[in-house]
Amino acid sequence: MSDSIDFYLEGLEQLPAVIEQGEDEQEKFARQLMELFQLKHFYESAIQVVRTHLSILDEEFNVKFQRNPIHNIESRVKSAESIVGKLQKKGLPISTESARKNLLDIAGIRVTCYYISDIYELANMLTRRDDFVLVKQKDYIQNPKPSGYRSLHMIINVPVHLASRKAYAPVEIQIRTIAMDFWASLEHQLRYKTDAKLTDEISEELRECAERIAETDIKMQKLFMEINEL
Ligand code: GTP
Ligand code: MG
Repeated sequence: MSDSIDFYLEGLEQLPAVIEQGEDEQEKFARQLMELFQLKHFYESAIQVVRTHLSILDEEFNVKFQRNPIHNIESRVKSAESIVGKLQKKGLPISTESARKNLLDIAGIRVTCYYISDIYELANMLTRRDDFVLVKQKDYIQNPKPSGYRSLHMIINVPVHLASRKAYAPVEIQIRTIAMDFWASLEHQLRYKTDAKLTDEISEELRECAERIAETDIKMQKLFMEINEL
């Protein structure tokens, strides 16, 4: 991943200060840095496992139905900065061990599908694999967030086969339609990237946009069913 180096830069910034310190401190720092490398590799591997499986499912669907359900897949490993920020916010210890134990979204995958039905079919296909263990599922399509946000969220424990052992890693998978993704991307930009806090009026307008987009999604689903005589 292209951001692999960035992930460690914050740690390396401390290096001159550590060099000034005794050997114990240096050893401790080297150990922390190594843990961080291993953590990042572990979650990147988990993402690879899910990506590979998703592409197999997508192609199998194509072979059967002459159509791919997946439009796009994005993934990321949470940055060291966000991991620390989230642990702090939750009042949890700041360590790689604490992150592994407490954060289930260090590995994140976002899948955009064409139709609402594709989301549920894909989710079912994923959990049918007996070594993919569903830990948590939140259906923000049936129950949209107050903001208007819609998506299917799953936390799945996936097996990662390392050189000397097998370990399970939690991966957060967000599955949504292109239309839901359009709204979420813009809303995220407006809400988090602008400095000013959104007023209640603007939040309400954004929620109304989400409603309209959801109606369109349902309409497109109906057209799809009609055209394919389903
Ligand atoms: P986090 O601590 O934020 O991970 O909360 P959580 O564990 O309860 O997860 P939740 O199910 O709320 O989903 C969190 C993720 O969903 C966020 O990181 C966003 O990617 C996405 N998300 C949730 N709510 C919204 C929203 O209102 N707008 C947008 N654009 N994205 C959202
Ligand atoms: Mg999250």
